[in-house]
Amino acid sequence: MPSLTFTVVTVSDSCSRGECHDKSGPKLLDLVEKYFPNSRTHADIVSDDQVAIETCLKYWSERSDIIITTGGTGVSPRDVTPDATLAVIDREVPGISQTLLIKSLEVTDMAMLSRSVCGIRGKTLIVNFPGSAKAACECFDFVQTVFQHAVDLIH
Ligand code: MTE
Repeated sequence: MPSLTFTVVTVSDSCSRGECHDKSGPKLLDLVEKYFPNSRTHADIVSDDQVAIETCLKYWSERSDIIITTGGTGVSPRDVTPDATLAVIDREVPGISQTLLIKSLEVTDMAMLSRSVCGIRGKTLIVNFPGSAKAACECFDFVQTVFQHAVDLIH
């Protein structure tokens, strides 16, 4: 299997200030390494600031096949990851975000509160996952099956 380059971006004010330990990012990297053993990985942490997230997504989209964000998808005023994602993508891939919703609703009604977006910027697939490690890992399992084929088609 050809190697993919993944970047996991943790979106969190407190983690970006070093006030809390990022759990979701490392767990997602573990899953990437488990399911895509030949992959290259990067990790980043950014605050819940739309401009900062957009800048981060633009930077990593030049260097990644897939960017997974975790956090900031909800409905509080600081939850702006989907808004930043929409601002930088060329095209949405609604099937992935719809799958996240449908499958997550089988786990919790709270899935209704995630505004996750998925789309393509250049040759990079960007996917938003919720912020808790549990939710992020569930979401990875729900959609990782299409990652390789999506990247093949995008290229
Ligand atoms: N999706 C899954 N699969 N599992 C979960 O536990 N939690 C929900 C939802 N999506 C959850 C989930 C909750 S509680 C919230 S508030 C929203 O994601 C938004 O989370 P975020 O603001 O951390 O991105």
